[in-house]
Amino acid sequence: METKESDAEFSEAGFLNQEKENGISGPEKKELSPKKRDSTLDDRSDEESFVCEVPRYRRGADGARGRKAGTPVIEVINVKKSYMLGGQEVPILSDINLTVLEGEFLAIMGPSGSGKSTLMNLIGFLDRPTEGKIIIKGLDINKLSDKEVARLRGLEIGFIFQTFNLIPRLTALENVELPTYANSRSGVNSRKRAEELLTLVGLEDRMRHKPSELSGGQSQRVAIARALINDPTILLADEPTGNLDSKTGCEILNMFTKLNAEGRTIVMITHDPEIAKYADRVVLVKDGSIQNSSDQISD
Ligand SMILES: Nc1ncnc2c1ncn2[C@@H]1O[C@H](COP(=O)(O)OP(=O)(O)O)[C@@H](O)[C@H]1O
Ligand SMILES: [Mg+2]
Repeated sequence: METKESDAEFSEAGFLNQEKENGISGPEKKELSPKKRDSTLDDRSDEESFVCEVPRYRRGADGARGRKAGTPVIEVINVKKSYMLGGQEVPILSDINLTVLEGEFLAIMGPSGSGKSTLMNLIGFLDRPTEGKIIIKGLDINKLSDKEVARLRGLEIGFIFQTFNLIPRLTALENVELPTYANSRSGVNSRKRAEELLTLVGLEDRMRHKPSELSGGQSQRVAIARALINDPTILLADEPTGNLDSKTGCEILNMFTKLNAEGRTIVMITHDPEIAKYADRVVLVKDGSIQNSSDQISD
């Protein structure tokens, strides 16, 4: 590790096997809805009905997993989004207001077609709202140049998608390193960090493999390493377990809970209430707006 900064970045090192850190208490067993069997390579799911152990974190004296007091890192203010189709305006999101605090693990839930991915794309500036404001870490993206927006996205937001979105002709290591060609933090050795992140997600022996030589679970772990490469404040995950079998999905969700316990803000989109249970708080997107917001208290 060359710099102090990169030492700090790797405080998460070993998060896969340090279950007892961060006040993790006993596991809570939850049954995930059965998913299509992923038979590729080393996914080890042989049971249809798999019982997933959700770590329970103690956040403060009362043990509640509720909403934390923190600084807002994402503010969505009076956002509307519509698409023009055949000359007609089709409203998708009508009146979205949402604040995500630093260190929160938020699930955005809603039925298929309700606008969840549209909302995630707006939060990650992959798309622009028709009306309203998106503020990330106090910066109003409407007031930034395209270059500033690209840099803010590249450094502060890590994306994880249902279909992994890896580049087929690049190795796992090259895929993880790729975002740093556009944006990187100074003083960080990107190759070394990519290797360390792949080791962190348990893929030290798969660094030179191409995506076609990886299982679904391994591909998603590469995508998580890629999302972490620039040490972003926020992880945005759109149905991250949607293409995985239950056991592999459980491993991915447990990685998220550990990353969140170490302070990473996570916004996860899902249509599945069982998966939303991993989050601290759930908001429901329905009929173009946020209909419901609840803290989940696990104790
Ligand atoms: N680029 C686009 N142009 C037109 N309509 C779109 C576009 N992207 C999404 N939509 C529509 O917006 C609605 C919400 O889509 P999406 O955000 O993907 O929903 P979800 O992720 O909740 O399943 C859908 O009806 C979809 O057809
Ligand atoms: Mg979607």
